[in-house]
Amino acid sequence: MIAMKRLFCSPLNRIAFLGSVVLTGCLIAPASESALPHLVQKDGRHALIVDGAPFLILGAQSHNSSAWPLTMPKVWAAIETIHANTLEVPISWEQFEPEPGKFDCSIVDQLLAGAREHKVRLVLLWFGTWKNGSAHYLPLWMKQQPELYPRIIGKDGQRVDSPSPHAPALLAADMKAFRALMRHLKQADRQHTVIMVQVENEPGSWNTVRDYSPAAQRLFTAPVPVELLKALGKDGGAGGDWTAVFGKDADEFFHAWSVAHFIGQVAAAGKAEYPLPLYVNAALRDPLTQPPAGSYESGGPTDNVLDIWKAAAPAVDVLAPDIYMDDSAHYLKVLELYRRPDNALFVPETIRSPIIARYCYAAIARGAIGWSPFGVDQQNQIAMTPSATPTADAVLESIASNYRVLGPMMREIAQLSFEGRFQAVVEEKDTQPQTLALGRWQAVITFGPPVFGYGRNPQGNPEPIGRVLIAKLDENEFLVTGHLCRVDFKLTDAASGAHRDFLRVEEGSYERGVFRPARIWNGDETDWGLNFGSAPQVIRVQLGTF
Ligand code: DGJ
Repeated sequence: MIAMKRLFCSPLNRIAFLGSVVLTGCLIAPASESALPHLVQKDGRHALIVDGAPFLILGAQSHNSSAWPLTMPKVWAAIETIHANTLEVPISWEQFEPEPGKFDCSIVDQLLAGAREHKVRLVLLWFGTWKNGSAHYLPLWMKQQPELYPRIIGKDGQRVDSPSPHAPALLAADMKAFRALMRHLKQADRQHTVIMVQVENEPGSWNTVRDYSPAAQRLFTAPVPVELLKALGKDGGAGGDWTAVFGKDADEFFHAWSVAHFIGQVAAAGKAEYPLPLYVNAALRDPLTQPPAGSYESGGPTDNVLDIWKAAAPAVDVLAPDIYMDDSAHYLKVLELYRRPDNALFVPETIRSPIIARYCYAAIARGAIGWSPFGVDQQNQIAMTPSATPTADAVLESIASNYRVLGPMMREIAQLSFEGRFQAVVEEKDTQPQTLALGRWQAVITFGPPVFGYGRNPQGNPEPIGRVLIAKLDENEFLVTGHLCRVDFKLTDAASGAHRDFLRVEEGSYERGVFRPARIWNGDETDWGLNFGSAPQVIRVQLGTF
């Protein structure tokens, strides 16, 4: 009875719901089943709007060769196991255009049907001209005409296994095929099962900083395009060639512009047919050491050329990091670099591993519109784990442990995230307590404390897999979920002499934007803070003082 009364009376019950009403009024088109998925930006934060409200991609990417009737059953099984709400899956050019101008949409239709049957959304990955820097997904009939669809040339004059961004026939063919894909989606997917499309895959080139073909050399020694100079605030460089304007960065910046300009045209062609949100994923460079050009894939949207990509490819909405780094210094730095007022944070690929699952919370706390481990179907692949080798089941369970708790309140999380209310902590190896500044309060998070009392120093978990996600709902009210950790609160003003009091701690869930408590935590469950195990528990905490 008490719970029911609070349910309808407390304004705090309705925060997420009210938030969405406010948003609906000022930013987002009225909710409609048929509204096209799109991105919105407010105060430097972003939301992916699907069916009229913010949507959080709790994603999973298949392996590269899994989009076939033979292999899709294992993909769908994995999606069910981990409770993902979105499957990212390739559409490969060789499969889609087996003969020039003849487009085979059957796999697209099968994916649409499968996704609807499993009640998940799709992000399609256009494996076109670039796939991990190579041209390996070109249809056979194109591979048999290497002069028409050429690879680039390295500094030593040798061909490099990477497509040329200076090949008009290649650009025209890619634009035509991508246009056909988007046109088909427009008519086959009126209910918007597909919510985003990735254009190419980790574009750029390995083993050379840029193309040194005669066509590329001509452009390299010509004036830098005025639109790029303008975008970079380098108007003074007008008339100068790439070396004159960019000095030691000239080779890399030229290649980034060339690749981005090519892909920008492919994206624009598809968007003209059907304007879904489009993104390009990046093979990263080390974000902390800033290594020399040439030691990482060159030309893709690495952190140092994001401005160039934004200028060269305005039809691409999002530049997205594929994060295959497992330590938190690198991981968190990448999240910071790709979260920008002009770029929604989206992690379309990351390692699938128990120690990586915690970064899902870190991404959400930075406003990510989605996060997605790679290769969940685990076919013909060894587990991609950085250190230990957990079983395939343990790997999937680590992702499921996130999605089980986040999935049922995905809409509310996306809304709160868009409002900038979240903070997160990921467990570090040093086992030290971590604090989050929440205004009047500080959250103190420990990993591996004794179950009862404060008896000994926290030991940390055997592997650093603990995590916490906290949303500030009001000055004294928080939404908390955690995994293998303890969360307590203390007053920021320690000198006040007042003590933290748990006024009410409720475990519950959201239903249509309203938090519905299922039980009240007290006694052992709150006397030393809030202890989270691996159960999917969501807690609403109201704090006071005595
Ligand atoms: C990054 C690529 O984008 C994926 O397609 C896949 O090749 C993974 N690397 C891992 O193999």
